[in-house]
Amino acid sequence: MKILIAGKGGTGKTTITSILSFILSRAGYKVLVLDTDSVPNTAISMGIPPSEASKIIPLVMNEELVEERTGARPGEGWGVFFTLNPRVDDIVDRYGVRISNNLSLVVVGSIDASKQGCLCPAIALARQFLRHVFTSRDEIIIVDSEAGAEVFGRGLAEYFDLMMCISEPTYKSLAISRKLVKLASELMVKENAIIVNKVRNIPLAKLLCEKMLNDEIPYYIVRYDKLLEDLEYEGRGLNELPDTSIVYSDVKSIVRNLMPWIKV
Ligand SMILES: Nc1ncnc2c1ncn2[C@@H]1O[C@H](COP(=O)(O)OP(=O)(O)OP(=O)(O)O)[C@@H](O)[C@H]1O
Ligand SMILES: [Mg+2]
Repeated sequence: MKILIAGKGGTGKTTITSILSFILSRAGYKVLVLDTDSVPNTAISMGIPPSEASKIIPLVMNEELVEERTGARPGEGWGVFFTLNPRVDDIVDRYGVRISNNLSLVVVGSIDASKQGCLCPAIALARQFLRHVFTSRDEIIIVDSEAGAEVFGRGLAEYFDLMMCISEPTYKSLAISRKLVKLASELMVKENAIIVNKVRNIPLAKLLCEKMLNDEIPYYIVRYDKLLEDLEYEGRGLNELPDTSIVYSDVKSIVRNLMPWIKV
C-alpha cells in the first residue's frame, strides 16, 4: 500500500506521517517512510535526535551519489548530458535510516524542480528512485510530501492507493484541501480522504466540514493534542508519546476506517 500525506504547510503532515508509521509498524507491517520535503524533518519526528538527523544527507543533495548514478552533479541543469534511468535499487538499503525492526526512513529531499533551482540530475535520480520503490517494494510506503502539489507531477500520482490530505479546521484550509483532493482523483490516486487536524471543537469542525465537503469527500478528525506541543518545544521524537495519547488514538481510528484489514 502506498500512502501520500499531502496538504498545506504546517497542517501536520509530518506529525501524521510519523504517528501512522509507528502504528502500522507496531501492528507488524513493514513500513518505509519517504521524506520529500526540501527542509526535511521527518527524521526528528520519528525519533532520530536532532544532532544525528542533521547529518542525514537527502538523496537530492548527495553530490557523490547523484554524480555516480547520473554522471552529472546536482545543480547542473539543461545542457548537461545525464543518465535518465540511473541505478536506484540499492538506495533503500544503503541510505535508509532504520528506526526500528520494521520501520525505515529514506530522506529523499524535494523533487520540486523549482525548489531545486533546475530540472537537474538530482531530481531525475529521485524520481527514478520513487518509481522504483513504488513498483518493487513490498512495504507499506508513506510519503511525507512537501506543501503544494509537485508530488502529483507527471508519472508519480497514479501509484498511490490513498492520499490523506491534512487540513486545519478552517474555511481556507478546507477549501485548499478540497482542491488537492480533486487534483489527486483526476490524477488517478485511488482513494482520498481529508484529515482535519488540530481540532479543538469537534461539533464546530464537523459543521464546517459538512458545509465545505457536502458529503462528497470523506473526512476524519484528529483532535488537538497538547502533548505534541510539549515535545516540539524540546525537539523530541513523537515515539515518546504514549500510545494512549489523543493523536495516537485518533490516527488509530482513521486506520480502522481506511485500512480495516489492519488490526490496531
Ligand atoms: N493534532 C495536533 N495537536 C497539536 N499540535 C499539532 C497536531 N498536529 C500537528 N501539530 C503541530 O503543528 C506543527 C506543524 O506540524 P507538522 O510539522 O507535522 O506540519 P507539516 O504539515 O509537516 O509542516 P511543513 O509543511 O512545514 O512540513 C507542529 O508544531 C506540530 O507539533
Ligand atoms: Mg513536514
